[in-house]
Formats: sequence, structure tokens, C-alpha cells
Amino acid sequence: MPIKSICCLGAGYVGGPTMAMIAAKCADIQVTVADMNEHRIAAWNSAALPIYEPGLDAVVASAIGRNLHFTTDIRSAIAAADLIFVSVGTPTKSYGIGAGRAADLRYIESAARLIAEVSEGNKIIVEKSTIPVKTATAIKAILAANSPHGATFQVLSNPEFLAEGTAVEDLECPDRILIGGETTAEGNAAVEALAAVYARWIPRERILTTNLWSSELSKLVANAFLAQRISSINSISALCEATGADVDEVARACGMDSRIGPKFLKASIGFGGSCFQKDILNLVYLCDSFNLPHVAEYWRQVVHLNDWQKTRFVEKIVRTLYNTVNGKRIGILGFAFKKDTNDTRESAAIHVCRDLLLERAHLAIYDPRVSPQTIREDLAAAGVSAEIIASNVEICTDSYAAATGAHALATLTEWDEFRTLDLPRIYDLMLKPAFIFDGRAILPADELTAHGFDAFVIGRGL
Ligand code: UDX
Ligand code: UDX
Repeated sequence: MPIKSICCLGAGYVGGPTMAMIAAKCADIQVTVADMNEHRIAAWNSAALPIYEPGLDAVVASAIGRNLHFTTDIRSAIAAADLIFVSVGTPTKSYGIGAGRAADLRYIESAARLIAEVSEGNKIIVEKSTIPVKTATAIKAILAANSPHGATFQVLSNPEFLAEGTAVEDLECPDRILIGGETTAEGNAAVEALAAVYARWIPRERILTTNLWSSELSKLVANAFLAQRISSINSISALCEATGADVDEVARACGMDSRIGPKFLKASIGFGGSCFQKDILNLVYLCDSFNLPHVAEYWRQVVHLNDWQKTRFVEKIVRTLYNTVNGKRIGILGFAFKKDTNDTRESAAIHVCRDLLLERAHLAIYDPRVSPQTIREDLAAAGVSAEIIASNVEICTDSYAAATGAHALATLTEWDEFRTLDLPRIYDLMLKPAFIFDGRAILPADELTAHGFDAFVIGRGL
């Protein structure tokens, strides 16, 4: 049966853009995104979308009101759908068994219970959220035990590989679409029904089908491999600083080996984002649960190195500023976890700013897309007291304001606009010696020295 009506539970960074693309590409399929958060739904229905993503406005505008709908009426959306994507959050558990490592599946479970309660007839349930291997078993059991109207279900895994900041490109032209299903006639039919939706705009050879467990695990493994490359290059960045090698040159030289490849070898103050750390911790927990402590320990190191990289950067700043930043103004350029997004979840900038504030620095923070409220909330959630936020955090409207009267400037996000800063102007605005700490290696290192800055560039040294 071809899919005529789709619903997605969760209008977040994954659910919103993914459903907008499906609706834009399949005018004859009704796509409804349902979320319990009224503000989020109101924002999706307004001109100011709740997330910033280049090109997303146009995709949403092309379908909204036609076959793309955002609603808080979750029950009706489920009832009307042939296929239901589950894209609710799966944060790391903060309590009880597996705290700090395991995924918290309570939103997945409540979504499954609601689907069971409301559904009639046959429905396809698609895990879009990243979840531990074997979650489909739990979803199936909940659906089977709680369906008052005798509905039948097929559960598929269809992980999303889009990266924030490039979501529209990634959805339009993905490297691959992965669909996992049960190896039964009904399972194969469900896989084919979903594959047919993607095949409207994605070549068939890029649509990969596997069994359920391979699909669930592949998402965790893909993110672990990507994060591992960043921790690998970041570990080498420290060695480069110690030896006089330049990490970008090393990355280029290694990346030209087609077996290694050039991507994801950019040294930084550490990876952030909602996925990498969470998914690796989840993988670690899985390995521990299956009594594979060596495998767990191997992957745990990727997160340890990442934490060390953030701490190392703060220590570099404090040591360089004559071992004290107490009362010193430090301009912070960038707060988002990467460029071209307003998302700050697990941003390395939160960690760096918190530690500088604990050293009693005065921070002047500028980010082109992150709201002042988000910055303050993130710092408070990271444990910075309300008094310190009130007295020692200033949010600026541009880089020059952040640099004014500053002892030091630190680039924490690789926004393009920082690459073309008016360096002589910045230099004039700052106290002398004027220190720059380029945590993303995006500023022209040679020019910095020529303009008189005392510059530290990650992976290159002072
Ligand atoms: C997604 C995936 O769901 C997550 O598993 C993956 O690892 C990262 O990407 P994302 O879209 O980034 O998450 O999360 P978020 O922006 O937090 O969106 C989740 C949405 O689900 C929120 O808007 C929340 O209000 C909604 N939600 C959550 C529900 O509607 N019902 C619930 O029970 C729980
Ligand atoms: C990631 C995966 O790329 C995506 O496939 C998955 O669906 C979700 O998780 P995302 O977290 O949105 O996507 O962004 P990504 O581009 O992977 O960047 C993650 C973090 O790594 C950012 O903080 C980024 O700055 C950092 N990074 C990335 C580096 O430090 N160096 C690099 O070379 C690449």
C-alpha cells in the first residue's frame, strides 16, 4: 500500500526539517508534525521558525498549508497516519541505573503507548530518534500489549544522518538512506513502502536496507567513528603545539590518502552537539551491558580526550594571561556548537566559558545566532551561579563590541564572519598585550602576528 499520510512525533532539529523535506518532495502525501510543546509548534507555523538552518525557510514555505502541517493535536495526527516517525528526544539518563551513559527512553515509551492507544488498522512505526540496539523489541512489545482497537504494526528503524547547519543539503542529497526492518513478508513490505517515499528524490542505489539491529547500531557507530576522527586529530593538535608541526598541514597530508580521506579532521576545542557524546556514551553502556568492557573502554577514550581538549584550552588561556584571569575581560566569539546553527547543546563553548567564569574572568560573549537568553540558561545549567552570570557575563551584538577593552579574545565557533574580521581595528580596541586564542584555527595566523597580536592557534601553538 503506498503511503498517503505521514505523522512525525517530535518537531525538533531532526523531525522538523526531515518532514519539511518529505512534504516538499511528495506533494501527494499529507505530512503532519506533532509536538507537545505549544511554543515550538506556534513557531513552526510562524515566519520565525524555531530553529535556524540555512535554506530551511524556503523548504517549509513550499509545503506548509498544502501538505505540511504542524500541530499539538498528537492523537489526531497519529490516528490519521499510515506511517508514524518517532523523533522525540532520547537524552542521556541523569538518574538511576546507567545514569550518565544510558539513553533515557521514557519519551520513546510514552510515544509507543500513545500510538497503541489511538491506532486502528495497520500502521508502520519508524524509529527516527537515535536509540540503543534492540529498542524496536520494546516498542513492539508495548504496541502489541496495548492496542484496544486491534491495530497491527510494523516497526522500522530509519536513522537520520543529517548534520545541523547543512540539514537541507543533507536531506536533499544524502550519502545514504538506511532502513532496517524485520525479515518477514510484512517487514519487507513496510521497508519497501518507506523506501518508495525516499525514492521520489533519492537514487535507489543510495537506499540501503538491513535488518533492524544493524540499522539501529549503524547510527551509533557512524557517530562514534566521526567523533573518533575529531578526538584523533585533537590529540595530535596537542602534539603539534609541542613540536612546531601545524595540525592543519598534518591533516591535509594525511587526508590526501584516499584510505583516510580529508573530512572531519579539523582540530577544535572539542566536538559538541546533541549527538556525539550522547551516542558514544550509549555505545559504551551497550558494550558494558553485553559484558564487553574492552570495547567500552576503547570508545570511552573518545569522550575523555574531548573533555581534556576543552580543559586544555582553558588552561592555555589562564597560563598565558600570567596565571590569572580574575577580573579580566575576555571576548568570546561564538557560542553555538558549530557554525550555521543556533543550537548550543553540548557546545564546547559552554564548558570553556563556565571554567573561565570559575576563574573569575569577565566574559563578553558574541554569537551571530544564539540568543542572550539561551547563553545565560546554558551557563546556569552548567552550574554558574545567577550572581556571577549577572555580574560577569555581558552579551555583545558584534565581535568588535566583545573585543573592546578586552585582555584577550577567544574564537570558539567557526562562524564564517570571524574569518574576515578587521584585525587592525580589533587590535586597536583591545588592551595590550592583545591576546588571541583561536580555538578553531580559522583566523589567518601569520597576519595575527603581523598585526601585533600575541596569538595562540589550536594545533599550531603560540
Ligand atoms: C533528535 C532525536 O530525536 C534524537 O534521538 C537524536 O539523537 C537527536 O535528534 P532533536 O530533534 O534534535 O532530537 O531533539 P529536540 O529538538 O529536542 O526535539 C524533540 C522534540 O520532541 C521536542 O520538540 C519535544 O517537545 C518533543 N517531544 C518530546 C514530544 O513531542 N513528546 C514527548 O513525549 C517528548
Ligand atoms: C552529527 C553527525 O555528523 C550527523 O551525521 C548525525 O546525524 C548527528 O550528529 P552534528 O552534531 O549536527 O551531526 O554536526 P557535525 O558537523 O557532525 O559536528 C559535530 C561537532 O564536531 C561540532 O561541534 C563540530 O564543530 C565538531 N567538528 C566537526 C570538529 O571539531 N572537527 C571536525 O572536523 C568536524
